[in-house]
Amino acid sequence: MCGIVGYVGKQKAAPLIIEGLKRLEYRGYDSAGVAVFQGGKFEVAKKIGRVANLEIEASHHRLTGTFGIGHTRWATHGGVTDANAHPHVSSDGTIALIHNGVIENYGKIKNFLLPKGYTFKSETDTEVLCNLIAYHYAKEAVAREGESRFVESVRKTLHHVEGTYGIVVMALDAPGELVTARKGSPLILGLGDGESLVASDVSAIVSRTQSVVYLKDGEIAHLTASNFAITTLGSDSVEPVVDKVTWSITDAEMGDHSHFMEKEIFEQPTALENAMRGRFSADGSTAQFGGLNISAGEFRGIERFMFCACGTALHACMVTEHLIEEFARIPVECDYASEFRYRNSPLFRNTLFFVMSQSGETIDTLAAMREAKRKGYKVLAVNNVVGSTIAREADGGIYQHVGPEVGVASTKAFTSQLLIGAMLALYIGRMRDLSFGAGVRYVEALKGAPDLVRKALLQADHIKAIAKRYAHYTDMLFLGRLSLFPIALEGALKLKEISYIHAEGYPAAEMKHGPIALVSEKCPSVFFAPSGEIVNKIISSMQEIKARKGPIIAIITERVELPAGLADETIVIPECHEAVLPIVASIPVQLLSYYIAVERGCDVDKPRNLAKSVTVE
Ligand code: F6R
Repeated sequence: MCGIVGYVGKQKAAPLIIEGLKRLEYRGYDSAGVAVFQGGKFEVAKKIGRVANLEIEASHHRLTGTFGIGHTRWATHGGVTDANAHPHVSSDGTIALIHNGVIENYGKIKNFLLPKGYTFKSETDTEVLCNLIAYHYAKEAVAREGESRFVESVRKTLHHVEGTYGIVVMALDAPGELVTARKGSPLILGLGDGESLVASDVSAIVSRTQSVVYLKDGEIAHLTASNFAITTLGSDSVEPVVDKVTWSITDAEMGDHSHFMEKEIFEQPTALENAMRGRFSADGSTAQFGGLNISAGEFRGIERFMFCACGTALHACMVTEHLIEEFARIPVECDYASEFRYRNSPLFRNTLFFVMSQSGETIDTLAAMREAKRKGYKVLAVNNVVGSTIAREADGGIYQHVGPEVGVASTKAFTSQLLIGAMLALYIGRMRDLSFGAGVRYVEALKGAPDLVRKALLQADHIKAIAKRYAHYTDMLFLGRLSLFPIALEGALKLKEISYIHAEGYPAAEMKHGPIALVSEKCPSVFFAPSGEIVNKIISSMQEIKARKGPIIAIITERVELPAGLADETIVIPECHEAVLPIVASIPVQLLSYYIAVERGCDVDKPRNLAKSVTVE
């Protein structure tokens, strides 16, 4: 949440920063701002709304400076106003700051600063932090040998701060220098040719350089155009590890698609191929993972799994639970990361803990992981963003390898999490009672998943036509059973987050125990009815809805025959192995939500009130 970009080099900073902010807009789009150093002072342009508004505003400011900072905001402290937009400048004019995170003790700090003459124009915790740096810069900071007073004043300030932050700071009398620090909010340094950058996500800097350093919590970096140095909050110097980004800027561009969400839905066959590449054993009967950092023997000793995640990623965990229990016969528990972290849940001794997170920065998931580690458990992570905090702090893990996901509504990251969950169930199952033959059939099924997804995507025009007929409804139910119950939850989440239609997901048979009261001709139900043992039970649930005049959209597999007239709309997906079914069944609900949102004129990639990568509680 909140996107940060800093630049120091030879080019005009503002256009580069604004370009970077556009790529970070998925992190928040309440307001945006940029500050550059020119003519001996900070020139600031900021505006509520999208980065496009900032671009217009900035054009009135003639921003020519070659170092500066920019921010796109997801509001926490203080409403969505120009005054609350970042960057903030201290009241004595010496410090400019952008910040991602929450300063919890900002009230106390403000009370400390007010009698000393510092004044405030905004309601933000960030402006308080900015003035505290100015205070230390002016009054207290003493430079250590070889280190600037500027760095020292930021360090001193951060010792007094409670909460989370990713910050980039400029000081009036330190032209050409940026100081950046993090605790709980991601920051990446970009090392370019005669220029240095800092951003909250690689996508903002990858067009300038592919050499990056992932800053760790508790580290402070001091950047100039040609150099950088990292120290800890405790003043120890840090030997930096320079990584190479393996994807290019075109991977984060929309191409011919109307929205990133559309692009990412249609990218799923390739994304799945990338997520499974090189991950099957030579005998073709099981999965293999390079980075689990846990021996087969240790794995065999595991008696229980615990999965924690948020939102869509939690739905992927719930499908994984179903598959591990089915194919490996080991009990699995799933929990909302935000609940687990405060619940003091009793955990069994031989439990292996997993977290799933596309971004690897979701604060609740990170906190749940730290809590499990604190209790002495090993934690493995399923994660997409390379070098993320969760990836670095986990004991081992599995990268999703699906490239940058830009649309706020997760699609390709979700189905790749489903795939990895299915591969985990296979891997664990094969260590126990799953036979060689069953393993081979499972592997073949997973290898066939990309083509089955391609086939499901061929329904796009049909689903688009259905979406046009259903876009005016205000309520919808999503109903599924077994491994498709989490997909019903996901369908409801997708629809509500991008189209603002109220939607709920339920186990199909549970619908009788309350939600059926909502059913009328005004509330359609989306049913998953794949072939299998309980398809007739699902058909009975559909009859109960039909008897109450509820419109029905049925998502069925090829072999299912519904009684004539039962479904108002039918979407047919291919028959598939149980491990692949949740992946393929996700496609129609992604498309349905997408086309309904487009039909309603919603901003699909930037739904209201939301942001990708939720780094605040
Ligand atoms: C919904 C969505 C969110 C995320 C959730 C966790 O489409 O994207 O529900 O799944 O915020 O995010 P990560 O996976 O980054 O931890």
